[in-house]
Amino acid sequence: MGGGSRRPERSGGSLVNSTPLVFLGILLGLSASWWGMVVAPKWQLGTGSTVVAKETGQHYPSARPGLAQQGAQIYRSEGCNTCHSQVVRPEGFGSDLGWGWGRRRTVAQDYLRDQPVMLGTVRVGPDLSNIGSRMGAGDTNAQPAMVAYHLKHLYHPRSVMAKSVMPAYPYLFEKRPVNGAPSVDALKLEGEFAPEAGFEVVPRPEATALVAYLLSLRSSISLPEAPVVPPPTNGVAVATNATANPAR
Ligand code: HEC
Repeated sequence: MGGGSRRPERSGGSLVNSTPLVFLGILLGLSASWWGMVVAPKWQLGTGSTVVAKETGQHYPSARPGLAQQGAQIYRSEGCNTCHSQVVRPEGFGSDLGWGWGRRRTVAQDYLRDQPVMLGTVRVGPDLSNIGSRMGAGDTNAQPAMVAYHLKHLYHPRSVMAKSVMPAYPYLFEKRPVNGAPSVDALKLEGEFAPEAGFEVVPRPEATALVAYLLSLRSSISLPEAPVVPPPTNGVAVATNATANPAR
């Protein structure tokens, strides 16, 4: 008779009764976050498609060439995105535009073709969202120079930038004896970076693909949701003065 008083019935009873409530709470919490973080963004962005860019009259973003797609895999496997971001923040959120990393902020549309999106988390090196159109590219004549620059930089960053802390990727290249005339794609290396006499350094397919990917990174076309604001020019300043003068 007295044994029943050891465990008060009330506390045991309330524990049993609250289990469905706790379960319901967890279920509601999980499903709310699933709707909020998976379903709602999918509704908002999942149906995105290419848009025809006014500047070029072409669909944006265009599909990457096959070589650049292979390069994206190398970029991913080498972990380039552990040091490089691919996002230009809007004005008022850092100086990304001031540093010339893009002509406008990046928006969801820019990542339409990226699978997976390699935003990056830390910026040890510069943002690469527009590395395909920075450094004077744009006109096709500049392309060979850019390819040569990127290959040399990847082989050994310090061969182009004295104090670079970026790691070297020599294994994306092959050092081999010159067979007759030097190869056309041999890197032009000087000083301590040059191979021994009679040898040359040529890019392996991985390096060529990686550079094709880098050059495909361009997200500065004017979009309705992120228009490119033309930089102020002298012409505008003169015109402003001209209208201001008569008022004096
Ligand atoms: C440990 C961090 C780190 C990693 C990993 C890294 N980088 Fe860099 N990267 C840097 C730094 C720092 C710079 C700036 C100095 C320089 O130009 O070398 C840079 C510069 C660059 C530049 C020139 C950017 C500009 O605006 O001039 C390119 C292109 C680049 N990296 C591509 C890559 C690629 C491709 C990979 C992967 C194969 C990679 N980086 C891996 C740190 C890194």
